[in-house]
Amino acid sequence: MAEPKTGELMEKIVSLCKRRGFIFQSSEIYGGLNGFWDYGPLGAELKRNIKECWWRSMTQLREDVVGLDASIIMHPKIWEASGHTSTFSDLMVDCLLTKKRFRADQVDPQSGTAYFYTGAIDETEGKESKDTFSVLVLPGKPVESARKTAKQFYQQRGLNNPTLLGERAEQAKDTVRYNPENGSLLTEPRPFNLMLKTYVGPVESVENISYLRPETAQAIFAQFKNVLETSRQKTPFGIAQMGKAFRNEINPRNFTFRSREFEQMELEFFIKPDEAVEAVAGGVAKPSGAGHPGEPQPNWGWQMWHQYWVEERIRFYESIGLPRVTLEEYWQKPEELAHYARATVDLLFKFPFGTQELEGIAARSDFDLSQHQRFSGKSMAVFDEDLKAAWPKLDAAKQVDLRERYFQSRLKYFTKTGETAEKADKQAKEDAEALTKGYYVPHVIEPSAGVDRLALALICNAYCEDQAPDEKGKLESRVVMKFHPRIASVKVAVFPLLKNKPDLVKKAKEVRDLLRPHMSVFYDEAGAIGRRYRRQDEAGTPFGVTIDFDTLGEKGPDLKDTVTLRDRDSMKQERVKIADLLPRLLGAIR
Ligand code: GAP
Repeated sequence: MAEPKTGELMEKIVSLCKRRGFIFQSSEIYGGLNGFWDYGPLGAELKRNIKECWWRSMTQLREDVVGLDASIIMHPKIWEASGHTSTFSDLMVDCLLTKKRFRADQVDPQSGTAYFYTGAIDETEGKESKDTFSVLVLPGKPVESARKTAKQFYQQRGLNNPTLLGERAEQAKDTVRYNPENGSLLTEPRPFNLMLKTYVGPVESVENISYLRPETAQAIFAQFKNVLETSRQKTPFGIAQMGKAFRNEINPRNFTFRSREFEQMELEFFIKPDEAVEAVAGGVAKPSGAGHPGEPQPNWGWQMWHQYWVEERIRFYESIGLPRVTLEEYWQKPEELAHYARATVDLLFKFPFGTQELEGIAARSDFDLSQHQRFSGKSMAVFDEDLKAAWPKLDAAKQVDLRERYFQSRLKYFTKTGETAEKADKQAKEDAEALTKGYYVPHVIEPSAGVDRLALALICNAYCEDQAPDEKGKLESRVVMKFHPRIASVKVAVFPLLKNKPDLVKKAKEVRDLLRPHMSVFYDEAGAIGRRYRRQDEAGTPFGVTIDFDTLGEKGPDLKDTVTLRDRDSMKQERVKIADLLPRLLGAIR
């Protein structure tokens, strides 16, 4: 079957999500709220399964990661320390005519004739505006359209009957200064902070301003010491958290891809600085090529750990049904890196609207903990017994070398914070001295993923159109959501062949009740069996169990207490004993 075009495909996906109850527009009955989405019955299960798989792989199946569930609203100082208050912004531009807001980097370049006006007068009312204005007219369009738009602009400034002044024309090529919807000039780009504000307490005063967290990560840094002390972990170890995050995105788009409320799944994995690794392990291993570097080793520095997490995350996606070929690794160029990052890999997914970021895996150095140490005045340094024991055994030249390198890296940090040279030098010296006694501020590797973005990727990846026989064996087209059984919203549908045969219904309900404590089961007795299969295909239910007359033993004892088990993707059916059903299904969904 021909592949649908991307725009068309996305429309089909959005429509299926609504029709089948995966995703609805938030507040739809009031016209919706841009950037906010609600998950219906199937979507809620899908998201829950995604989060469970992530939590299981990140915490339960590992000894070196523990969990955290922190509050959404935190002390505003957290966002000063993290840099969000001052730098978490996008450049935005406003249309001078309609006031519509755009992200500056999302305005498409246009070419045409730009008409400039120095102002306008209204002779009848004796009014004048000296505001300058400009309109871009695309090739083939008359100057009149520019004049019409310009007159609207001056009418908004109180001139009912404006006469335009100082008209001048200029050719413009690939300009991003005009609203693509009406040609009106845009404002100069201005930064717009993406954090959503609220007030804590009954008084709406400046002191009470707080923010809905724009990422879950910062709570992990802020609680680092509490978690360390209560979990008996030591570096290298991680803290994982999932939860809501909020960003006042200027231009939410591509369905749920860029939302204003979304969920994140973040791991902050704390490691020794390379100087400490070298002191303890005698050297620092560096990646020798692409691929998974294997079991973690004591001599791993940040580069090995970074590569390890990139590969672990790809393996995770593979385990829930996103094959490696649907993903791309993008290594950010040095000029694209955030100021604190040493390296960042974006894992991109091929969405129908383009190849876009699914997750970022950043090596964030010791920036975050250092910032919270500086802003809170509480030490974020850990004591490393292995380092303390190893240090005196190093030869003197090695001690000098490691100490100097650690001093330089701390000096770089303190200098960036804007400390005076003298103070930066003093603090870096203190930290270098502390290293020799076994103390350091851990570095961090951060794999940070979005639940909603992953749900969308899984939905796009699962969407499939093929052919299936109807009741009479005639081929008809079917839509099937080929979710991996691990993340499918409903794992198995149970159908009595006919709903008006009490014995079939009774047996089907027994099978439903047998499976229900272990997985999400959908019981359906309404309509022709082919239709029921089709409904489950659209929901992405990987297995269908049908209870028929053979199950009741009507064709003899051999088939008694057996059912047909239908595979969603191949549509093949096989006879399975009821007694074998549970282990068989559990094996597929775990
Ligand atoms: N702590 C690092 C951090 O938050 P990010 O790249 O801004 O990094 C991480 O976000 C992930 O969160 C993204 O890869 C994406 O999956 C998800 N995400 C970010 N902004 C989002 C938005 N507006 N809507 C949906 N998901 C978003």
